[in-house]
Amino acid sequence: MNRRRRVYEGKAKILYEGPEPGTLIQFFKDDATAFNKKKHEVIDGKGVLNNRISEYLFTHLNKIGIPTHFIRRMNMREQLIKEVEMIPLEVVVRNVAAGSLAKRLGIEEGIVLPRSIIEFYYKSDALADPMVSEEHITAFGWANPAELDDIMALAIRVNDFLSGLFLGIGIQLVDFKIECGRLYEGDMMRIILADEISPDSCRLWDIETNEKLDKDRFRQDLGGLLEAYQEVAKRLGIINENE
Ligand code: C5P
Repeated sequence: MNRRRRVYEGKAKILYEGPEPGTLIQFFKDDATAFNKKKHEVIDGKGVLNNRISEYLFTHLNKIGIPTHFIRRMNMREQLIKEVEMIPLEVVVRNVAAGSLAKRLGIEEGIVLPRSIIEFYYKSDALADPMVSEEHITAFGWANPAELDDIMALAIRVNDFLSGLFLGIGIQLVDFKIECGRLYEGDMMRIILADEISPDSCRLWDIETNEKLDKDRFRQDLGGLLEAYQEVAKRLGIINENE
């Protein structure tokens, strides 16, 4: 029986009340969804891998001074996090054309972009997360201009760090999505990284073969999603060769 209070349930995660005020427990489900839930499958073990991979990446981001909500992993599927006020945006950083950018602008997938591009999407299942501009964000008050500056600076730092980290294990960071929140400490507020970073929220291609090691395996019915996530975890040194 689960006696914890459920605070929020999303497509791939559940948030429960944490053990202390200002904390939450983030639970990673095995559900894989795409195209705003039109495609759905349960992939045994995905949540466990994402919990470990996100723990690894957030721990390293914390170490280099990028503030995140991650406190510690609690078990196979759960991590303790700081409670933040979520900003209702998906922030996408792109280094290589793929996915919706390739489709929208008719750019061949795999073309290296002239520079990294940041895009914003308004988080709304009902509207299927429409792309929005900085003008929309500040006009509708989802974030103020100073917060938006902080979010963009955070996104660029995360991109620089993760691009290098993945390159070191033979993986190209094609693009990824982050979400941010406001952390209130006394009368101070700062923008920190929240949610997760995992192969669910990144495009990761093998440098040599261009093999997709991310959720596109599910979106594009390529199969082998769990094996791809395991490969990422192995290369990061999170699980060993025999797992
Ligand atoms: O689909 P699109 O090309 O816009 O996705 C860009 C990046 O953002 C991809 O790495 C994708 O996995 C991620 N993303 C996400 N959650 C969404 C939409 C996109 O993690 N709701």
